[in-house]
Amino acid sequence: MYRLIGRDGNAKRGEFHTVHGTIQTPVFMNVGTAAAIKGAVSTMDLQGMKTQVELSNTYHLHVRPGDKVIKKLGGLHKFMVWDKPILTDSGGFQVFSLAGLRKIKEEGVYFNSHVDGRKIFMGPEESMQIQSNLASTIAMAFDECPPHPATREYMQNSVDRTTRWLLRCKEEMTRLNSLEDTINKCQMLFGINQGGTFEDIRIEHAKRISELDLDGYALGGLAVGESHSEMYRILEETVPYLPLEKPTYLMGVGTPENILEAVERGVDFFDCVYPARNGRHGHAYTNHGKMNLMNAKYELDSRPIEERCGCPACSHYSRAYIRHLLKAKEMLGLRLLVTHNLYFYNSMMEEIRNAIEANQYQSYKKSKLEGFAQGEA
Ligand code: GUN
Ligand code: ZN
Repeated sequence: MYRLIGRDGNAKRGEFHTVHGTIQTPVFMNVGTAAAIKGAVSTMDLQGMKTQVELSNTYHLHVRPGDKVIKKLGGLHKFMVWDKPILTDSGGFQVFSLAGLRKIKEEGVYFNSHVDGRKIFMGPEESMQIQSNLASTIAMAFDECPPHPATREYMQNSVDRTTRWLLRCKEEMTRLNSLEDTINKCQMLFGINQGGTFEDIRIEHAKRISELDLDGYALGGLAVGESHSEMYRILEETVPYLPLEKPTYLMGVGTPENILEAVERGVDFFDCVYPARNGRHGHAYTNHGKMNLMNAKYELDSRPIEERCGCPACSHYSRAYIRHLLKAKEMLGLRLLVTHNLYFYNSMMEEIRNAIEANQYQSYKKSKLEGFAQGEA
């Protein structure tokens, strides 16, 4: 259940109550695709990193180790030892971005596993069954993330099918939540708005899915190759047609700049692989932009990555040490960078929440963006 507790312009400050605890929004979900944050970061580590929600993927966990295995072990929370909320993406997006040859039919998608090439079928019912076996807090509806660019005709047909799939998802989730041996009988369902950069298709679809009284609403099919300004335009045009009293989730986004702009346009939930991926590539996010720790100028730099950062990496270790670890290809270097980056994102979300509460979002955003543009310290 979502409660809007504050607004500053279109920016929303909310609380989302779940059986696994309350999520303060706006929030950044930390991505652990295969039930692990990439970069050897454990759920024990996440406890000290201001992480509120972990995100995993239906498709990956279905392929390996198998959702039935996870169900037998008591569900994803128990399996990965994380008692706070978990959101699972439906598999729709991953099937389209990862799987080999695939065929989209009314009943669902036929594709080959990216692990062993085995033939798999996934439709709305299968996706809901897998997510119910995983027993995540929030399940995402099974959708098609259409390619960019797509023709208007392709987009309209795809969005219409995604709507029919959503109705099937809702029905199947209701059925699963009522079964005796379902682990999380309070599993929630978020619908996904699609329509690419076609404003009218987006708006019609937003209106249609808003009638369904789902637990939350996501915007999908963004950050797939369109420009940042097009993405912001779509948010401005579409978010007003999604219910204000439900959380809004911008899937797969994005950079700190993208998040600041999207919050201003009314988004509550985010997820992105950037902080973990950039950490694994030796890059750290700071209030003065991204820094490359491999750079020779850090050889004798005894300062932490970021002065005044409270993360486990900055609390103990120097730029020089982390640079050495990266040079020596020690896994600890990457682990410390991913830790810092996730803490940076989670802390920024905390600042965002405070700024909205204080009705100072505009000036906060401006000073944050100016800092990023300044460049490395
Ligand atoms: N992750 C990023 N974009 C999307 C999308 O359009 N659909 C789904 N299911 N997941 C996503
Ligand atoms: Zn830090």
